[in-house]
Amino acid sequence: MQSLVNYHTFAIPAQAKTVLEITAVEQLKQAWAQAKLANEPVLLLGEGSNVLFVKDFQGTVLVNRLKGIEHTQDSDFHYLHVNGGENWHNLVAWSLNQGIYGLENLALIPGCAGSAPVQNIGAYGVEFKDVCDYVDVLDFQKGEVFRLSASECQFAYRTSVFKHKYAADFMVVAVGLKLAKAWQPVLKYGSLANLDQSAVSAQQVFDEVCAVRRAKLPDPKQTGNAGSFFKNPVVTQRQFQDLQSEYPNIPHFPQEEGFVKLAAGWLIDRCGLKGYQIGGAAVHTQQALVLVNMGNATSSDVVELAHHVRQAVAAKFDVYLSPEVRFIGELGEVNAENTIS
Ligand code: FAD
Ligand code: EPU
Repeated sequence: MQSLVNYHTFAIPAQAKTVLEITAVEQLKQAWAQAKLANEPVLLLGEGSNVLFVKDFQGTVLVNRLKGIEHTQDSDFHYLHVNGGENWHNLVAWSLNQGIYGLENLALIPGCAGSAPVQNIGAYGVEFKDVCDYVDVLDFQKGEVFRLSASECQFAYRTSVFKHKYAADFMVVAVGLKLAKAWQPVLKYGSLANLDQSAVSAQQVFDEVCAVRRAKLPDPKQTGNAGSFFKNPVVTQRQFQDLQSEYPNIPHFPQEEGFVKLAAGWLIDRCGLKGYQIGGAAVHTQQALVLVNMGNATSSDVVELAHHVRQAVAAKFDVYLSPEVRFIGELGEVNAENTIS
């Protein structure tokens, strides 16, 4: 067995039978075929910033280290073809330095470019879907790479076709981004709204996003975590109105007709759970949506804490939170919601 401690951000002790860092698509195909021949499960990993290992993984972990960025342009757009193992934040910083704008709201999101489409990463009013041109996918069974347009990826809040139709036996090997030369700042979220729309630069947006994130979110290098542990829940307009009449300041974000998204962090915070700890796992004191490893957490501590948080929020608000983090068991992904129910 090999330790996974350097391959995920929760800093929970976990192991896998084999861990392989992959730098070429041919190597990827061979490693997958070998694992299948040995009848072993395969797990794809980027930087492990959205996973919780609930058990040791009894198979082969393929770590995406496919590198390379190609830049082309026409009169209106910059086009970036980015291999999946590139670090997402480095890509954002690099593009800014090249004078290519549009990724700045997505600064400091951990993980690989190839993982970005999987849950359609989003922050500060921008989602991956807004900058995506195409996604290149390896079909392991056929040994072929095919291309999906952004609309074929069926992006929605924290989800895509890579969690459903193309979840098993498919891997994102590259992403194509399309960024307009006529840059428009997106300043609708939080403190970004205080910036001057007509004068602001992409660098200022980047700096503000980085400052806010550093103030709220724990750095995985210092404190193990996987970002927001739960998704923000979407409720019906009717349920929202009942909640709003009791809690007039409840943060909310209108969705498609008849639905409203709530802030899970606010709900957890109102339950008085900031800093609440079970074993080595705790609710982050700066941002209640993040569960952290205080140093010696086991996966059971995190699961118990997540169960407690979910129950407390349900008891107070009649809203059931679902994990955003993907739970990995002995043979692959397990149902996270059932695990904490
Ligand atoms: P991993 O954790 O390695 O993998 C995630 C899932 O995708 C797994 O199920 C894995 O099997 C699968 N997968 C990995 N690579 C591939 C591939 N190439 N093809 C197909 N499937 C694959 N997310 C946001 O959306 N917004 C945020 O603001 C944000 N902030 C965060 C802050 C912190 C401090 C942390 C720790 C996390 C945050 N996240 C955020 C979550 C995380 O950064 C994203 O989900 C990111 O895209 C995960 O990338 P990764 O490479 O680490 O993926
Ligand atoms: N809030 C509280 N207390 C808390 C946390 C939040 O009252 O402890 C309130 C805030 O004051 C604000 C609202 O809840 O009114 C929303 O908080 P915040 O702006 O921090 O964002 P979030 O909804 O908690 C989401 C994403 C983050 C993303 C930020 C910024 C999800 C699950 N999380 O968090 O993504 O960075 O918005 O856009 O959608 C992630 O997915 O891992 C992640 C970190």
